[in-house]
Amino acid sequence: MDKSTIICRCEEISLEEIEKVISNGARTFDDIKRLTRCGMGPCQSKICNCLVAAAINEKTGTPFHEIPLPRMRMPISPIKLDTLATNSTTFSSVKSVLDEVELEDGKVR
Ligand code: FES
Repeated sequence: MDKSTIICRCEEISLEEIEKVISNGARTFDDIKRLTRCGMGPCQSKICNCLVAAAINEKTGTPFHEIPLPRMRMPISPIKLDTLATNSTTFSSVKSVLDEVELEDGKVR
């Protein structure tokens, strides 16, 4: 991979930046996150997590199964503020999308 390759699209963090912090002692995704903001974007590391693990593996030789997973914060998936405000317990992301679909003669309008 080229050094200028963007690893974290959300925060525009390149492979070069990731490798620099690994060279300075970072060994986990959370270390790299604190030093670069990698993983703090809207996808919350769903895209860059594996690429960062690959960079750690390549630079340090740490096996993938020994690289800790990043800490996750709630909510894991986007939800409506309306759902939070009403303290709904029947939330599911699929249901919230389907709630907005209007049918007319069995077809989506
Ligand atoms: S790609 Fe890294 S936080 Fe989204």
